Amino acid sequence: MLKTPLIAVSYKVYAEATGKRALELTGKIEKAAREYGDTVIIVPNLVDLKTVIEATELPVFAQHIDPYAPGSHTGSVTAEMIADAGATGTMINHSEKRMILADIDFAIKRAKELNLETMVCTNNVDVTGAVAALCPTYVAIEPPELIGGDISVSTAKPEVISGSVEIINRINPEVKVLCGAGVKKKEDVKKAVELGADGVLLASGIVKAKDPEAVMSSLLEGLH
Ligand code: G3P
Repeated sequence: MLKTPLIAVSYKVYAEATGKRALELTGKIEKAAREYGDTVIIVPNLVDLKTVIEATELPVFAQHIDPYAPGSHTGSVTAEMIADAGATGTMINHSEKRMILADIDFAIKRAKELNLETMVCTNNVDVTGAVAALCPTYVAIEPPELIGGDISVSTAKPEVISGSVEIINRINPEVKVLCGAGVKKKEDVKKAVELGADGVLLASGIVKAKDPEAVMSSLLEGLH
């Protein structure tokens, strides 16, 4: 398992983090991560996944896998495909790519068989509790209304972080708790860790930053 506390950065499908720019951004994030020695997971888009994996030593997660075994499922991405590409794990059930519970269960089991870590996004404390029973490596709680904004979950909804930590401890303490949405500053990270989170998940705060390396360094300072 990767060392915690950690920071995970999703590239979503932002133009600033696609193709050649995905590689440039990865280089900047990696430079900051090396300096601090902390775990930084990057989550590039699925088309750039393999190219990014080949260009970095950072752990790389896919943004999604479909709940299928290899076979006749046109347009789908299987756990086997991302394992072959060299991914460390996969994010699933992001608010922008939701799945039903039975499919989340299937995807987690399939990923585990292939030694892939799993980060399951959740939208509230109750869903966090439900997902904990499926034993993913991480849950990442993100109130959907705060995603992409400038007010972080740690400021706007600290009770969602502490509530998630509490329900995880009750249902399955082996699961690590990440939180995200609106994380932009060192203080957001610091507060998340103080509330019991094992790290944060963010996107626009890094991908859209003028100086992603400087922002990454500052966020990493907030971990300690
Ligand atoms: O996947 C992380 C994401 O949903 C958070 O987005 O832009 O609020 O950091 P952002």
